[in-house]
Amino acid sequence: MNLFTLPSLLLGFSFFSLFINNGVVFVDALHKIYPELQSLQTDGAVIKPLHRTRFHFQPRRHWINDPNGPMLFKGIYHLFYQYNPKGAVWGNIVWAHSISRDLINWKPLKPALYPSKPFDINGCWSGSATILPGNKPVILYTGIDPQNRQVQNYAVPANLSDPYLTEWIKPDDNPIVDPDSGVNASAFRDPTTAWLSDNGHWKTIIGSKRKKRGMAYLYRSRDFVKWTKAKHPLHSAPNTGMWECPDFYPVPLSGRRGLDPSVTGNWVKHVLKVSLDLTRYEYYTVGKYYPEKDRYVPDNTSADGWSGLRYDYGNFYASKSFYDSMKKRRVLWGWANESDSAQDDVSKGWAGIQLIPRRIWLDPNRRQLLQWPVEELNKLRGKEVVLRHQKLLKGHHVEVKGITAAQADVEVVFSFSSLDKAEPFDPSWVDAQAVCDQLGSKAQGGVGPFGLLTLASENLEEFTPVFFRIFKSHHKHVVLLCSDARSSSLKEDGLYKPSFAGFVDINLSSKKLPLRTLIDHSVVESFGGGGKTCITSRVYPTKAVFGDAHLHVFNNGTEAITVDYLRAWSMRSARVN
Ligand code: FRU
Repeated sequence: MNLFTLPSLLLGFSFFSLFINNGVVFVDALHKIYPELQSLQTDGAVIKPLHRTRFHFQPRRHWINDPNGPMLFKGIYHLFYQYNPKGAVWGNIVWAHSISRDLINWKPLKPALYPSKPFDINGCWSGSATILPGNKPVILYTGIDPQNRQVQNYAVPANLSDPYLTEWIKPDDNPIVDPDSGVNASAFRDPTTAWLSDNGHWKTIIGSKRKKRGMAYLYRSRDFVKWTKAKHPLHSAPNTGMWECPDFYPVPLSGRRGLDPSVTGNWVKHVLKVSLDLTRYEYYTVGKYYPEKDRYVPDNTSADGWSGLRYDYGNFYASKSFYDSMKKRRVLWGWANESDSAQDDVSKGWAGIQLIPRRIWLDPNRRQLLQWPVEELNKLRGKEVVLRHQKLLKGHHVEVKGITAAQADVEVVFSFSSLDKAEPFDPSWVDAQAVCDQLGSKAQGGVGPFGLLTLASENLEEFTPVFFRIFKSHHKHVVLLCSDARSSSLKEDGLYKPSFAGFVDINLSSKKLPLRTLIDHSVVESFGGGGKTCITSRVYPTKAVFGDAHLHVFNNGTEAITVDYLRAWSMRSARVN
């Protein structure tokens, strides 16, 4: 597989896009632009319900991309997001705004930011919220100016006594950061939540690139209005291309609690995440932040580049986290684009979802993060079915009956009595997705493939398997987790059906492997190994829809597998927008 073409092409993005705006033409890597589809108003009546999610976040219609500025203010969660108010493809971008008391049920408000001033007349692009002392939220965002330069702006609530923060003001001293002469003005965007140093300086980073080098430029300010660029970026990495939507935050060395972004000390590590525009996937490193030098150094256990750790090995991009001071946790939001064609999106009348917010914390092994759907999701759990001690011999699958399999939450623990049958791991297998592509769920293995068949049609013409397979390498075992969309739909035209996969860095001494999967009509969101490896697939079944969708557990390995226990719940629909 050519790393540089496949996902970008097929996820509906182009490697290079042509921009024509206000007469200025330039080429850059970004969302695929369909000028003729950008402003096709879809009226409510034509919104197609098939494949719409029922407990994942979606607006009523039209295109969405990145989550922006998530925050908690006076007991209410706010989520802003990139939104096209006029159509189901990218364009006309505003900051749409929804509020919630539980991160699951959402009420829409009017857009918080929309192009209206010279400093954002061509778009209000991604950014973040920071809560200043005195509980005063401020938004930092990227505006596209009349020359199509990316500049950084701020916005403040018009009325701090309104807990909904309905009105936002963009002060006239914007932009507060212009791209200076050393900075590529068409690749300079997505400011992070700012953090405060002991010496009273606010700091933020802005994603960019210098030639092929991904950059996180650091800016400092005393008053949040006048910002100065630091001599050195906070961090950069060769050959990674444009860094979109950086995120930078501390995590405690132990425990699940989250931290305010300004916390530093020997008892924390820092995480830097960037979204790679070239391939539309993200990677992160765990490392150390030196506040005096304003440098971030990834640990030597974290690969800093294409092979780095990912929050999610599937369709998950432009994510952003925030500190939830009410529940003392860090919460991560990611966007999943559609995997169908732009024409499909126009005829559906909608495109894009936000994935279930995930609590994130440092794995006790200190090499990676763990992720888990926020606990509030469990409130949607309805009817439950349980399987216990279900043995699965080679070639067996057992249907999990009695729940709405198209809208479900499934938690399962698989166990096996021996790893003797694990097949040898080929050291050339560095790309998990290519391994999954080659081996799949159907052919017989040693220990695995075993797992779930989600969104399966009655006669298994369609299904999305989420499964493990265990290999033996020199000193250890290697666990592969796949979410394979290749058999997900009988429809072929315009669908991207990748065999997403990631390795799971897990200790197998208990001879158990847990898996949780959230199934919501066109999304299958999986958490392998207790949240060590997550994979999201977007799928468009034609038969396995609504009441005709089925769920199975299966094993195609020669080693017998036991479902120690499985709990599956029908999920109620959330009230979303
Ligand atoms: C990421 C991104 C951001 C940009 C926004 C525009 O998906 O390209 O870099 O700010 O989307 O909508």
